[in-house]
Amino acid sequence: MFAGIAGRYDLANRVLSGGVDRSWRRKVMAAAGSPGAGSTVVDVACGTGDLALLFAKAGARVVGVDFTYEMVALAPSKETGRGGDLAWLQGDGLQLPVGDGVADAATIAFGLRNVADRRRCIREMARVVRPGGRVLVLEFSMPQRDAFGRIYRAYLEHVLPRIGGALSGDRSAYDYLDDTVQGWPGPEQLQAEMEEDGLVDCGFERLWRGIACIHRGVVPAPGDGARVTRGSSGSGG
Ligand SMILES: C[S@@+](CC[C@H](N)C(=O)[O-])C[C@H]1O[C@@H](n2cnc3c(N)ncnc32)[C@H](O)[C@@H]1O
Repeated sequence: MFAGIAGRYDLANRVLSGGVDRSWRRKVMAAAGSPGAGSTVVDVACGTGDLALLFAKAGARVVGVDFTYEMVALAPSKETGRGGDLAWLQGDGLQLPVGDGVADAATIAFGLRNVADRRRCIREMARVVRPGGRVLVLEFSMPQRDAFGRIYRAYLEHVLPRIGGALSGDRSAYDYLDDTVQGWPGPEQLQAEMEEDGLVDCGFERLWRGIACIHRGVVPAPGDGARVTRGSSGSGG
């Protein structure tokens, strides 16, 4: 599916989010501790590279990994030549082609919903991050069932597939987006899973009244598992 829409993916993203996806990616960068020169970041399901490129622009060394060749193949053309080293790999988030503990942070933006086993993907991300480093997940979420939530649901079900389909040439890809977002677990459950999978200091921030969420967790040092905290969340825009 992503191979089929790769060429128009960025355009559809910008139009459907009104450009807000850019500010969300900047928030992920801040949540990762704004890694710069001397830091290494692995961006899983990097797609056409927007998040990876932000980290590289700040001077970090970045490895972008994506399953779909047609998506990741578009990323090098977006490099500006400034900032840290970039490597683009076709690979699987469930079996990352990266060694243990090499990264200061691992990120995944709008990708966790798409992998076959999200728990395994989180564990893989934790594996490649050094103790004390961070795992960050940016993903869509569902707002509460108030007036805003009802309007958003109607947008997801009826407007987004039409516009996304017209822009990308594949309406089914945007029906899939609606289905997977509405079937996605709430942030509390995702946080509990991250904690069960061994991350500590976990928390999340709701974005735009809960239509997206940034999850964070820290890879513990050996013997550091007791510092688990639960449920810190915000409602920032
Ligand atoms: C919605 S796109 C997100 C791309 C990018 N992170 C962004 O923020 O625009 C989802 C991406 O997940 C990738 N993907 C799906 N399953 C994957 C897997 N098992 N391993 C790596 N990437 C995967 C797809 O190829 C696609 O590029």
